[in-house]
Amino acid sequence: MKSKYIILALVALSTLAFGANADSAIYGKDLIPNILGYDQKGSLHLGYYFTLMQSTYFKPLFLGVLIGVPAAFLIHYLVIGPMVFSHDRKKIYVFTLFNRIVHAIAAIAFILLIPTGLIIMFGSTFGGGTFVTACREIHAISTLLFIISVFPMFFMWARWMFLHWDDIKWLMIVGGYLNKDKKPVPAGKFNAGQKTWFWLATLGGVVMILTGAAMYFQDFRLEILASNGISQIDFLRASALIHNALGLGVTALFFVHLYMSIFAIKGAIHSIITGYKEEEEVEILHSSYYKKLKEKKEI
Ligand code: HEM
Repeated sequence: MKSKYIILALVALSTLAFGANADSAIYGKDLIPNILGYDQKGSLHLGYYFTLMQSTYFKPLFLGVLIGVPAAFLIHYLVIGPMVFSHDRKKIYVFTLFNRIVHAIAAIAFILLIPTGLIIMFGSTFGGGTFVTACREIHAISTLLFIISVFPMFFMWARWMFLHWDDIKWLMIVGGYLNKDKKPVPAGKFNAGQKTWFWLATLGGVVMILTGAAMYFQDFRLEILASNGISQIDFLRASALIHNALGLGVTALFFVHLYMSIFAIKGAIHSIITGYKEEEEVEILHSSYYKKLKEKKEI
């Protein structure tokens, strides 16, 4: 018993002495888990992976996304440039008022969630303390906004988002974004890129909400965990790993979404504000949808 406390004290001291980098050495598979009983039989044995990812990989990966994705877009913008469509033809009504309100709530939520999430991730760089704690609370409150929007968003758009042959063809030509030819691109109301973003933002978003809630509340008991031999600490570790891994994908695709909406297609952002898209944009970038609208004599 005595030796258990001595080892714990040594671990605490060496963590203080060596900082975060010492974590991976200390929380190796053998020492801490056995002492604290965290890695006991029947648990997920996540201690080692949790420490490795949190202390070594997640920060550089997030930095990679923060720098790499905008850099790739800057190159795209400078080399290929934005797509520009005629504003002299008709406009096609594509997003209802309800669509736009739900989307606006999700957008506000993300504008708060992403920077505050990054500040939490790089908390020590920001000096910790009140600023980071305040960001954690803003992160939690903006999650409520996201909860309000994610379910209606899922139901209002899901029927358009299932895989279609057009999506394979769209992927083969990278959506036509590698040149500025105005050749009709195979896509329905939403293209393969937009569908990917939809599924990640909605289904992935719900998983982010659940894993985030687990980390925020921490001290709760779920009978299903205990009955399956999963320790609370392992559940929290799994939540952190999933939350951060999904957060990487969501952040990267959110940047893609912003680039496409604001820069890559000139004026595209107006559609989610007014509900209308330029006819030429629909004809070229959503050619299958355009054909259907024509067949149905809706335009
Ligand atoms: C400031 C942030 C945002 C801006 C400027 C923005 C802009 C846009 C625009 C312009 C469209 C219409 C695209 C088109 O069909 O041409 C759109 C659609 C959409 N947005 Fe956003 N959006 C933002 C945030 C978000 C967030 C946070 C989510 C999800 C959580 C989201 C999910 C979607 C989805 C699923 C669509 C339909 C599919 C697509 O176009 O990708 N957006 N958004």
